[in-house]
Amino acid sequence: MQCLVISGAQNAPTPVLMNLPKPFPGSGEVLIRVASAGVMPTELGWISTWFQKSGEVRVNTIPAHEFSGTVEALGSDVTGVKVGDEVFGMNDWYKDGAMAQYCIAPLGDVAPKPRTLTHSEAASVPISSLTAWQALFDHGRLQPGERVLIHGASGGVGNFAVQLAKQHGAYVIATASAANLDFVTQLGADQVIDYHAQTFEEVAGLVDLVLDTVGGDTLQRSWQVLGPGGRLVTVVSSVASSSDERAKRAFFIVEPRRDQLGRIASLLDTGRLKTFVNTAVPLSEAASAYARRVKGTGRGKTVVCIGKGADV
Ligand SMILES: NC(=O)c1ccc[n+]([C@@H]2O[C@H](COP(=O)([O-])OP(=O)(O)OC[C@H]3O[C@@H](n4cnc5c(N)ncnc54)[C@H](OP(=O)(O)O)[C@@H]3O)[C@@H](O)[C@H]2O)c1
Repeated sequence: MQCLVISGAQNAPTPVLMNLPKPFPGSGEVLIRVASAGVMPTELGWISTWFQKSGEVRVNTIPAHEFSGTVEALGSDVTGVKVGDEVFGMNDWYKDGAMAQYCIAPLGDVAPKPRTLTHSEAASVPISSLTAWQALFDHGRLQPGERVLIHGASGGVGNFAVQLAKQHGAYVIATASAANLDFVTQLGADQVIDYHAQTFEEVAGLVDLVLDTVGGDTLQRSWQVLGPGGRLVTVVSSVASSSDERAKRAFFIVEPRRDQLGRIASLLDTGRLKTFVNTAVPLSEAASAYARRVKGTGRGKTVVCIGKGADV
């Protein structure tokens, strides 16, 4: 099968197209014919791209852990899905990803594809929406009526977080650059802050929850806006290797959740949630997409069209 693999070194990753054998699904797994896969450029530097969980070096790692496609074959002990079903989902960071004609995923990591979305739209959903969902509700314990500050609100994770927090009945304060303030307002933000022109800690007031997708100085300055009982959740992976124990405790890595994906699919199909595709490119341009060299709307996820039915 044709696929993109990451070669080179962790500090100088080189994505290249290659032909590798089609994988076989094991027990509890499904083989998926990939229609579209989402691009996360930061993945090229992640430890899971270069090393196995055991610490052994990985070679020819196939990136992209979110996808939309069609079930091609079932492993043993798989029930409740059949060959030909359209599914979307994510798979393990330490396993080969979906920037390929075929990928493998445990059945529990995929859900029926939202009916009203194209494969490319559906492929833009799993990681960003599950990250936003788990940050707000599982880790942030957001309650209706609470005030939440979302950093990076126009980004992949942030735009889902604004929509989900608003629907949950929270008061949403969002940071974005000037060009995206209207976009974030349309998503449902009650208050928007241009982070280039304003200092958020001077205008946001106290909040119950901060969701940080930016890190660095933005994260450090965020502790001071937490009111009594306030929580901070960050998804920025550089935190994991920092010496700041408080920030490390605030960090989590998104997990595949079939039940949550199903609820997100239903919100998408009923129009209560929207996904934004920055641009869709063919597999031949996937390396450029990882290098952030493809142009798009500047909002949402870049997806790569690999198989049939991937049109945006
Ligand atoms: N831990 C996990 O499981 C997990 C899962 C998914 C993603 N992530 C990580 O989360 C981060 C965000 O991912 P993403 O896909 O949402 O990225 P993205 O789509 O590139 O969005 C990032 C956004 O940050 C905004 N931004 C940049 N500097 C800012 C600042 N100082 N204040 C406020 N906003 C700022 C930009 O908004 P403007 O264009 O408006 O300036 C941009 O839209 C990445 O580091 C990614 O690796 C982690």
